[in-house]
Amino acid sequence: MTVPVTTELAAGVLTISFARPEKKNALTDAMYGVVADALEDAMTNEAVRVVLFRGEGDSFSAGNDIGDFVAAAMGNPAGMNVFRVLKGLAHFDKPIVAAVKGSAVGIGTTMLLNADMVFVAEDARLSTPFVNLALAPEAASSILLPARIGHVRAFSMFALGEVVSGKDAAAWGLANKALPAGEVDSAAAHAAAELAKRAPKSLQLTKRLMRDGAALWAHMEEENKAFGGQLSSPEAREAFTAFAERRAPDFSKVS
Ligand code: COA
Repeated sequence: MTVPVTTELAAGVLTISFARPEKKNALTDAMYGVVADALEDAMTNEAVRVVLFRGEGDSFSAGNDIGDFVAAAMGNPAGMNVFRVLKGLAHFDKPIVAAVKGSAVGIGTTMLLNADMVFVAEDARLSTPFVNLALAPEAASSILLPARIGHVRAFSMFALGEVVSGKDAAAWGLANKALPAGEVDSAAAHAAAELAKRAPKSLQLTKRLMRDGAALWAHMEEENKAFGGQLSSPEAREAFTAFAERRAPDFSKVS
């Protein structure tokens, strides 16, 4: 079966497109596998100067596939490719650009914190509803998000699942620019093309000096423990069941 992620390398820009629009580009383990392979290759492939993430259809990504969460909660984890993606994002020292339209949920938003330039649609909807799903933050978002937008805003995104518009995301420093949705892909592609023309070693050194990949990965590993522990908890089971049944979760009875 074809995995719905496409990669295309042109003029130094590796474009990674999530291509599962009918599920709002929710990410399965197989999709993470393609992304991880692409990042791992791009790390050492001199032909890749910049990585550009985007989504097909009306959304960037609805985050991790909830079906995979349910399988993991039942003791049948779909796979571990998400950890390869997180490790790749932490250590990636070439520029990452993202083009974000529609929904960006969970890792759809937290991966943006590991990008270097982000272009969002004004009406994009960014959210990190980890507590609504009885989970925990990932992708180093528990330190990167408060550092970027301040503790109180980050806390309400994590704890209440508050949705942030693309317009606010740009105003709060989560994105370079908020644009009409129809202009997002071309603005991101233009930025990526400009970066691809710059001195590659200088770009890598600049990025390495701006962020400590090893420290970010160490923090992600702590988050992964918390996340993994929650995944099989009674409260997470209730949250996933509620999603499948299209109702609000009821945590009043979980201990
Ligand atoms: N995992 C699996 N399927 C998902 C999904 C996810 N994370 N997000 C959306 N889908 C599916 C829906 O179940 C639906 O499938 P169906 O058509 O077979 O019923 C389809 O994608 C379209 O989603 P829908 O909810 O109808 O679209 P919407 O525009 O009303 O809402 C979202 C879009 C992204 C806001 C909403 O789907 C959502 O909240 N998804 C869950 C996001 C989430 O919690 N992710 C995990 C974060 S850690």
